[in-house]
Amino acid sequence: MFALAHLSDLHLALPPGVSELAGKRGLGFVNWQRNRKYIHRADVLDAITHDVKAQDSDHIAVTGDLVNLSLPAEYAWAKRWLATLGDPGDVTVIPGNHDAYVASAAGLPAAFWGDYMRGDDGRQRFPFIRRRGNIALIALSTGVPTGPFMATGRLGETQLVGLAEALEQTREDFRIVLIHHPPVSRLRRYLRRLTDASKFREVLAAKGAELLLHGHDHRRMLNWLEAPDGKKIPAVGVPSASARARHADEDSAGYHIFHIDGARNAWRCEMIARERGDDGTIRECERRTIY
Ligand SMILES: [Fe+2]
Repeated sequence: MFALAHLSDLHLALPPGVSELAGKRGLGFVNWQRNRKYIHRADVLDAITHDVKAQDSDHIAVTGDLVNLSLPAEYAWAKRWLATLGDPGDVTVIPGNHDAYVASAAGLPAAFWGDYMRGDDGRQRFPFIRRRGNIALIALSTGVPTGPFMATGRLGETQLVGLAEALEQTREDFRIVLIHHPPVSRLRRYLRRLTDASKFREVLAAKGAELLLHGHDHRRMLNWLEAPDGKKIPAVGVPSASARARHADEDSAGYHIFHIDGARNAWRCEMIARERGDDGTIRECERRTIY
């Protein structure tokens, strides 16, 4: 049995001394000071991190939005948090839109978190593949800089072609696709959607996958996507790992653990959701058999 923990959207608190920012970062800073710093709390993330480690998983996937404004000090901060989570070989990271907030930050995720974002072949490009036994993690990046008040993501043609190849190459394995943005968005999230989601779903429908994990919406979500031979792919969204309490249509902090077993055409996969209760403790809130 392989145990995979999935967490996302930590939005680590801004390091001390940050102020006076221009452009999109300036708007983001105001939003952080007025709203988000009351939602995404270091003490909540600490409790979740402690609980993840206590559950003793074989591997941990972090699907983006580790930081807020893509400032170099934030990436360094996040790197220290990653070190508390585990070794780069046991933790896989992909970026989210907040990790590529402005064009000038494009190279920073790889510069700071590169060891957590490379394939078994040692290369640092998306998609990358990490195989652990008969589990194949296929990691994508949708983090692209956008205009103010937007949080869209994009895969682009090169990654879509690479994804099709990666899914083919690992077809005997239990294939887990890691992506920050959900493959299906509600209309009200139009300015926060994955812009090439339909092309992404076409690749999945043609090649198949056993599981897709995403963050971004800060909600527990499950969508079933088309796959070959009438099969379906479960696409599971996880809440933010640092949200202090339920907020608007977002869930309170939580994460998922997947227990995976079996072999091709006979996989078993169970999902355990753990979340922060009103009393601040982290507890199991759902257990579901996916296969
Ligand atoms: Fe996001």
